[in-house]
Amino acid sequence: MRVIHTVAALREALAAGPRPVFVPTMGNLHEGHLALVRQARAHAAASGGVPVVASIFVNRLQFAPHEDFDRYPRTLAADCALLERERCDLVFAPDEREMYPEPQGVVVQPPAALAGLLEGQFRPGFFTGVCTVVLKLFNVVQPQAAVFGKKDYQQLMVVRTMVRQLALPIDILAGETSREADGLARSSRNGYLSPAERAEAPRLHRTLQALAQAVRGGQRDFDALERAAIDGLRRHGWAPDYVAVRRRADLQPPAAADEPLVVLAAARLGTTRLIDNLEI
Ligand code: PAJ
Repeated sequence: MRVIHTVAALREALAAGPRPVFVPTMGNLHEGHLALVRQARAHAAASGGVPVVASIFVNRLQFAPHEDFDRYPRTLAADCALLERERCDLVFAPDEREMYPEPQGVVVQPPAALAGLLEGQFRPGFFTGVCTVVLKLFNVVQPQAAVFGKKDYQQLMVVRTMVRQLALPIDILAGETSREADGLARSSRNGYLSPAERAEAPRLHRTLQALAQAVRGGQRDFDALERAAIDGLRRHGWAPDYVAVRRRADLQPPAAADEPLVVLAAARLGTTRLIDNLEI
């Protein structure tokens, strides 16, 4: 496995071969990321044995000034050891000067109808930062396919929209959410949790499960279900940003319940903001 830090060296390494399958990350890798790499590996094998490329880059553009950019864990050596074990072929780990040698004035603004909802409402500019770095990484890596996790459900949809509307020749593959034994969705940010918060954290998933169960059981007052879920979290010390039942197709509030739905949530536990979702 090669670890490459510059755009020029990456282009050179990939120039002769077929277009790879790509897994973009911000590092501090856990089993959720590694499952995406395995999915990329399987897809690459089925595509004639093309290479698998992972990227590790903590993208300042997608963090607001008050967010956790500075304390986001940077664990490159451990990440590379894990990627090597997954038979990743190449790791692209640029530093900030390499990715943003000048102020990034050209940005990709995803449609507000999708990117202004939910995460976009509580993290203004977040999806512009994500789309800008993902398009830039796509331009550098030039993959035939890229894998994104459903853990970040709205991000996956925003990236798919960007790829479609900009006619990028890249297949976007979705990976299922990887969870700890107690249901907590794996996340680099779980490492911020104190032991007491870690014990409390699976409530977010349990809350979504209970809500999904109620909807499957025929309950249709989504507002009431959302309010009850938010109140339940608050009673246990959470500060929820949202719990929302939405249409899978466009993340808009559902008109009728006979369409595929997803419930999404974001909530802070202490200083740690966690997100999760469940397809209903
Ligand atoms: P990061 O949070 O490192 O996640 C990288 C990829 O791993 C994303 O596609 C994310 O959805 C996926 N992922 C994270 N936790 C997961 C879990 N528990 N189960 C399944 N997949 C999981 O998302 C980003 O980085 C950045 O926004 C990025 C796309 C790299 C752009 O900077």
